[in-house]
Amino acid sequence: MTSLPTATAAIVLAAGLGTRMKSALPKVMHKIAGRPMVNHVLATLSDQKIAPVVVVIGPEMESLAQAVAPHATALQHDRRGTAHAVQQAQNALKDFSGDIVVVYGDTPFIGGETIARMRAARSAAKKPAVVVLGFTPADPGGYGRLVTGADGLERIVEAKDASPAEREIKLCNSGIMLADAKALWQLLAQVTPNNAKNEFYLTDIIGLARKAGMSCAVVEGDEEELLGINSRIELAEAEAIFQRRARRKAMENGATLTAPDTVYFSADTKVGMDVEIGPFTVFGPGVRVDDNAVIKGFCHIEGAHIAGGAIVGPYARLRPGADIGADAHVGNFVEIKNAKLESGAKVNHLSYVGDARVGAKANVGAGTITANYDGFSKSHTDIGAGASIGSNSVLVAPVKVGDGAMTGAGAVVRKDVPADALAVNSSRQETKAGFAANFRKLKQATKAEPKR
Ligand code: UD1
Ligand code: MG
Repeated sequence: MTSLPTATAAIVLAAGLGTRMKSALPKVMHKIAGRPMVNHVLATLSDQKIAPVVVVIGPEMESLAQAVAPHATALQHDRRGTAHAVQQAQNALKDFSGDIVVVYGDTPFIGGETIARMRAARSAAKKPAVVVLGFTPADPGGYGRLVTGADGLERIVEAKDASPAEREIKLCNSGIMLADAKALWQLLAQVTPNNAKNEFYLTDIIGLARKAGMSCAVVEGDEEELLGINSRIELAEAEAIFQRRARRKAMENGATLTAPDTVYFSADTKVGMDVEIGPFTVFGPGVRVDDNAVIKGFCHIEGAHIAGGAIVGPYARLRPGADIGADAHVGNFVEIKNAKLESGAKVNHLSYVGDARVGAKANVGAGTITANYDGFSKSHTDIGAGASIGSNSVLVAPVKVGDGAMTGAGAVVRKDVPADALAVNSSRQETKAGFAANFRKLKQATKAEPKR
């Protein structure tokens, strides 16, 4: 018989100042793939159905409290160590009975599958009260060392407090722990700051658990998922890891990336099957690309939806609210914002289409601008199905061009154009026969050279 997994809550430690980031922003607010690193951790917890979640923050971190909402926050006024930080969440979790996993807000790649293995380890034969996530880093340096014996994990010793022999231990503490809630609170109450840093160490609960006759276990993770971020350089390394994984995932899911190393995804980018993505394309937050869409190179896309069969780029910019319909085309040097291109519509060259609808199969000529802003408010442009907008038209919003209507090249359209009508407002062309030839003759007589 399989038993239901134990309900598990989480405490995310994020009160650290992150001085090495040299930033006014709390460290865990710095973004990887367009998403604050703490939100990567929260997404993983949510995937694992871990709830409730309490984030421990420091003073003056309101922006962080907002970023993690609706999760609760607990304030750690003074940084007195990791055990003290965890204790700040006790009040918020006082009615919770189950397991609690402690994770770090600055360790964004902790895997859901790893947390699942830790949860599974709690029900092993010895019923360990605490499960610690260990790893074997290339350089154990300042990490806490896991001291193991015949009965599993015995204690954790911080590098600063370790003997030379203990420092030789390769198995290190990632900082991530899972424990029975009741045991956790009992053990934390016994922690004292008798150590090199004069701090309350969370790691001390292992030794205390063993003294109380409880067993403790280690589950191992890999170094990459336990990468902690302390500086902008490590942030850039984390970004590179994320991008490498996102590119692989997109390709595994059936997208073709002609030059994967030059494509940048956001944490929430959704790319379908048989999508083609050319070189040097950047996806900001909120993009969905449906099956069979083609994105040629050098595009910048955020907050946009691209339907199947659409062709975008090269050199297109899709801004928030761009909704590119099935089989629609958006060509080079075209910017689309808050606008719907219905199926088969084309905006192929050098245009700005903002706050607009372009009806099915309408064609928007080169250089067309929707003049949507009068300096105070934005207005809407509506282009009907099958309409043909002449090159270099300016559509002064609010304005409507009816189904099947046309505008002449260079038209400035200030009034609605009824269906199937033509709007032109350029002055009549004057043609002077022979003028050019006479002009050249005159110039040559004075020996002027054409400037190149
Ligand atoms: C900690 C572990 C160490 C482990 C390492 C892994 C302890 C005593 N040591 O050491 O065994 O190898 O992490 O990276 O737990 N934090 C607070 N409030 C505090 C102190 C810390 O919120 O008062 C947060 C920090 O923001 C950070 C995390 O807890 O996210 C770890 O703190 P840090 O000071 O980096 O601990 P380490 O000395 O690296
Ligand atoms: Mg650290």
